[in-house]
Amino acid sequence: MGKRRHKLLLLLCIVLATIIAGCGKSEDGGDSRLVLGFSQIGSESAWRIGNTKDIEDQAAAYGIGLMFENANQKQENQIAAIRRFIAYKVDVIAFSPVVEEGWDNVLKEAKDAGIPVILVDRDINTKEEGLTTCLIGADFYREGVMAAEYLIRKADSLGLTYVNIVEITGTANSTPMRQRQAGFMDTIAGDPRMNVLESVDGDFLKSRGAECMKYFLGKYGDTIDVVFSHNDEMTIGAIPEIEKVNLKPGRDMIIISIDGGQEAIDVLKEGKINCIVECTPKLGKELMETALKLKNGESVAAEIHPVEQVFSDETDVSQIAPRGY
Ligand code: AHR
Repeated sequence: MGKRRHKLLLLLCIVLATIIAGCGKSEDGGDSRLVLGFSQIGSESAWRIGNTKDIEDQAAAYGIGLMFENANQKQENQIAAIRRFIAYKVDVIAFSPVVEEGWDNVLKEAKDAGIPVILVDRDINTKEEGLTTCLIGADFYREGVMAAEYLIRKADSLGLTYVNIVEITGTANSTPMRQRQAGFMDTIAGDPRMNVLESVDGDFLKSRGAECMKYFLGKYGDTIDVVFSHNDEMTIGAIPEIEKVNLKPGRDMIIISIDGGQEAIDVLKEGKINCIVECTPKLGKELMETALKLKNGESVAAEIHPVEQVFSDETDVSQIAPRGY
C-alpha cells in the first residue's frame, strides 16, 4: 500500500474513532456510552461472517459503540488493531486470537493502560497472570469428543470392525484446532477399531479442504472410511473431491464436520454429511453483557461456554430449523 493511502486510512480510522467516542459523551462531558474495540480474525468461513454480524447486531442492540477491525487472518494485524484501541482509550478490548501464542507484549500494554480485555471464541497461551479477564467461546474439546462419540455409535450400527480415519484440521496452533483434535483423539483412543491414517492442516478454508481431500484420496484411495473435518468450510471443499473419484460422501465415506452453518446443514439433509457438531457463532450477547459489567467494575465469570448440540443422520434432519448463518 502506498504511503499516502496508508496515511489517509489512518486518518479515517482516527475520525471514525473520534465520532464513536464522541457519541458517548453525556451533556456534562462524561462518558455515557461504552466503547468496545473488537479485533476479528478475518472472514474465512460462514461461521466467522455470522459471528461478525452477531457482534455488530448485539452492539447496536445494547447501544455500545463498536470499533471493529478485521485482521484478514494475520496476527500482526490483530496486534496493530489492539494497539490502536489502546491509543483511542476504548473502555474494553475484545479479540478472537487467530493463534494461541505471541500476545503477551500487547496485552501487557492494555493492562498498563487499565483497559480490560475479553477473549472471544479462542484462547491464548501465556504464563502471565491477569492479562485477560474472561473467555467467551465454545468448549472445543467437548466438540471433538462429541464428533468421536458419534463415530463410535456409527461404527457400532454399521458393524464396522476396522475404521480408517483422515482428519482435516483447522489453523495450526489455534485453540479449536488443538482442542477439537485432542477431544476426538482422546475419545477414540480406547476403541481398537479406530485407525487415524493422517491429519493435515486445512486452515479452516474451503480451498484447503479440497486440497487436503485430493491429497488423501491420492494416497489412501477408497481405503478411507471416515473424514473428520474441523469445520464446515473445509468439509464443503472436500465433498466434490470425493465425488470426482466416484465415491459417495455420506455412504462410501462417513463425513463428520463441525459448525452447523446453513450450507452444511443443507448438505447434511442431502445425505452427503453424516454428522455436524454445532459450534455457535452467536457470542455477541454474552460479549456485550460482559463488557458492560467490566465497565461498571463488576466481576465476570472466567469462562462462558454456550450449550451446543449434534446434528446427525441418527435423527430426522429435515426438521432442523433455519440456522441464520
Ligand atoms: O474458532 C471457531 C472456528 O473458526 C470455526 O469452527 C471455524 O469455522 C472458524 O473459522
